[in-house]
Amino acid sequence: MKLKFDFNNMMDAFIGDEGISEKEIDGMREAAKDAYSYLEKNRGKGWMGWTELAYNQKDIVADIIYTAAEVRAKFKNFVVLGIGGSALGPMAVYNALCHLRYNELDADKRGVKFYVEDNVDPERMQSLLDVIDVKETCFNVITKSGATSETMSQYLIITDLLKRKCGKDWAKHIIATTSESKGNLIKLAKEEGFKTYFIPDGVGGRFSELCPVGLLPAAVLGIDIIGMLRGAANMDNAANSSDPYKNAPLMAAVLQYLAIKKGKNISVMMPYADSLKLMADWYCQLWGESLGKAADLDGNTVHVGQTPVKALGVTDQHSQVQLYTEGPFDKVITMIGVEKFRKDVTIAQGAEQFPDVNFLCGHTMSELINTERKATEYALTRSKHMNRTILLEDVCAESIGELMMFFQLETAYCGKMLNIDTFNQPGVEEGKNATYAMFDRKGYEAKKAELESAKQKQAKYII
Ligand code: PA5
Repeated sequence: MKLKFDFNNMMDAFIGDEGISEKEIDGMREAAKDAYSYLEKNRGKGWMGWTELAYNQKDIVADIIYTAAEVRAKFKNFVVLGIGGSALGPMAVYNALCHLRYNELDADKRGVKFYVEDNVDPERMQSLLDVIDVKETCFNVITKSGATSETMSQYLIITDLLKRKCGKDWAKHIIATTSESKGNLIKLAKEEGFKTYFIPDGVGGRFSELCPVGLLPAAVLGIDIIGMLRGAANMDNAANSSDPYKNAPLMAAVLQYLAIKKGKNISVMMPYADSLKLMADWYCQLWGESLGKAADLDGNTVHVGQTPVKALGVTDQHSQVQLYTEGPFDKVITMIGVEKFRKDVTIAQGAEQFPDVNFLCGHTMSELINTERKATEYALTRSKHMNRTILLEDVCAESIGELMMFFQLETAYCGKMLNIDTFNQPGVEEGKNATYAMFDRKGYEAKKAELESAKQKQAKYII
């Protein structure tokens, strides 16, 4: 395993009364066993299709690798059209496993340029169109539901352009990744003859990185997707005990559950590596959308959840860490450390006459970033703020697979402990439906009437 989970600083032995005792963990043994058995019994069933992705996609992976090579040979750009779970995973993996300035590299040092349009900001769309030529671009439209307004508008803008600029071959510029059985994208794909990949049933958006949603963009970028799946399988296989001391994601979930009960309503995800910066965005959706629920499975109103916040080490030491060390005791801070960076840079000599600067000379930047991580860990612990560290041996396809599977398992275990539906998102649906109503979509007349009868804003409150 390339991932280690260090939870020393969650414990009362290190942070006193703010921490968690071994007795409290022992008190969670039954709940942990239940969560573990629930996941084991329901593997691959209902919305738990994601548990099997590391094992059941051999044929698809072969097809994806073949298609990815074709894309690289035929196109100069690869653009993902998608949002939420259909965009955050591809972005996080691109950021983690490609050169940090990938698109800016000379063409002979990289593959196709890569973009993900995960918004409907008109300036963003126009800026994309300013830097790509659609005739040289492959667009991967990703939407599980095949209905999301943002993705379908991106799709419509792009297909209109393609039809005008590429003539009869325009459909060859599109690869659709969607549900086989529902939504409009699959109908369009069949009608227009797009190359299509299916998002397996039972795999929700935020749990979909390890199916074609994430695998195709990664493969196009030349990322070792078999290694990613192997890493996910390694983590899954290591999480094979109902004893939290022998199952890292289960222990992580137990600690977060206990932390939530102690009023730690915020989960800060703070990687100490730029390559993992977008992994925090991906985590925020996974944790926030899965656990933030109004009702529990027995119909009680509970309004649970833990607000995920993204931060970056060391950058946010100079922005957020003041709050984390001296502010309210309402957070769990998770640092992600990297033992061995893929590149290192030595801090040059040249400040002999300035001892306050000279102490840095001759050290490497990886030494500095890791020392600052440990120093921040010390400061957080000294100020008795709950913190934990996920340590990766290095950042590679395998460790990223492990990390993503770790968080998915932690989320699913914690959702079970909270007795909520981890896999739905009624709050997101409400916003989607209100948008449809405001745009006068057929079938949403009642919602429109509801919106019109809602309290209207008062001018006196707008100044
Ligand atoms: O996790 C989820 O299911 C959501 O966040 C979706 O990923 C998001 O709403 C996009 O949905 P779709 O893939 O259906 O376009």
